[in-house]
Amino acid sequence: MTAIPLSSARILLIISGGIAAYKSLELIRRLRDRGATVRVVMTAAAQQFISPLSAATLSGQPIRDGLFSLTDEAAIGHIELSRAADLVVVAPASANILARMATGLADDLATTLLLATDKPVLAAPAMNVRMWLHPATRRNFDHLKDDGVLFVGPESGPMACGEFGPGRMAEPPAIVDAIEQALAATTAWSGSPESRATDSALLSGRHIIVTSGPTYEPIDPVRFIGNRSSGRQGHAIAQAAIGAGARVTLITGPVSLSDPAGAEVIHVGSAREMREAVEAALPADAFIAAAAVADWRSESVAHQKIKKGANESATLRLVENPDILAEVSKKTTMRPSVVIGFAAETENVAANAKAKLQRKGCDLIIANSVAEGTSTFGGETNQVEVIDARSAESWPPMTKAEVADGIVRRVALELARRE
Ligand code: C5P
Repeated sequence: MTAIPLSSARILLIISGGIAAYKSLELIRRLRDRGATVRVVMTAAAQQFISPLSAATLSGQPIRDGLFSLTDEAAIGHIELSRAADLVVVAPASANILARMATGLADDLATTLLLATDKPVLAAPAMNVRMWLHPATRRNFDHLKDDGVLFVGPESGPMACGEFGPGRMAEPPAIVDAIEQALAATTAWSGSPESRATDSALLSGRHIIVTSGPTYEPIDPVRFIGNRSSGRQGHAIAQAAIGAGARVTLITGPVSLSDPAGAEVIHVGSAREMREAVEAALPADAFIAAAAVADWRSESVAHQKIKKGANESATLRLVENPDILAEVSKKTTMRPSVVIGFAAETENVAANAKAKLQRKGCDLIIANSVAEGTSTFGGETNQVEVIDARSAESWPPMTKAEVADGIVRRVALELARRE
């Protein structure tokens, strides 16, 4: 099974009460222009802002607004409604509906559908800046992210209420982008295990370079500076890209994993060797920098083992390594169309990743937490945030192979977009 294209996607759009609801009408129009089917459910408050007739006319479908309508239930029951969609989108998502979602309330049709659905949910929050920054909303937002709800926005700017700050709903084109991305990643974690297999033609004819593993920076013939990267995520990405029909060059630091069958594998030790191998492997359609490259190396490398001297302390002078990701991102010739970096952070994962995206100049950052208590390093699973200049998606915990499938789908989508 392949990822669901927007042109044949079934979107269940829940409109909650907020002034941004008027933008949802444009969202419906844009989704339908792209070929998607849109079914709309409006909360009672939403109907104070826009008319059900406008939403029905634009979506071409009757609007559902009540839980206890006999005629509606006879036509299509609410449980069925929540399942007969590929993606549930809540736009605008008011502070109230986020709170109800976070506590699992089912006190109207919208929240009942959200509780009954087995499909991914994407929310576009919209509210006054104080409401967005209130600790209760922060708590609900964190909670929902942990539950796997995806988010787009909110953005900062002037608000209808005259204040300024974060809380504006993302613009309809950004929501459409986030919907496409959610659909592209959807099959990575929903459906049967067989459906997770990546489409074998998704990346055919493409050359993908992947870096993986740690780098070892020598100090002397026996000692080095390294880190705990196992290479599992990078190798899984190489494997998934091969499965998707790509030609793959995997440039890996020292790992105890076997080479993925079908990839051209180049084994390197240090960051400088990795950089050289990446340069030699270009051009490529995409560059995925999953390696945990050492930021520093010893200024000098001793040819003989450094002996313990009379002095009990020793000083190692470190110099910075080349930043391979930043160099590839900033290339003026032979820059791959899609450049993806990783961010292993111990705190403020999303904020640090966003800053890294800008600093490095790459197109996408896959951020994961390596804080104490996570099994990211060396483990089988990973929980990532996928961040680009416009949006941030939080994927639920998955195996590294599933994350790799999701990344490969996203690469295919990004490449298709740039054509
Ligand atoms: O700056 P930081 O090391 O946290 O950035 C991580 C991202 O940058 C990863 O994608 C990693 O592969 C890449 N990187 C690189 N060269 C370096 C350092 C990091 O390509 N010297």
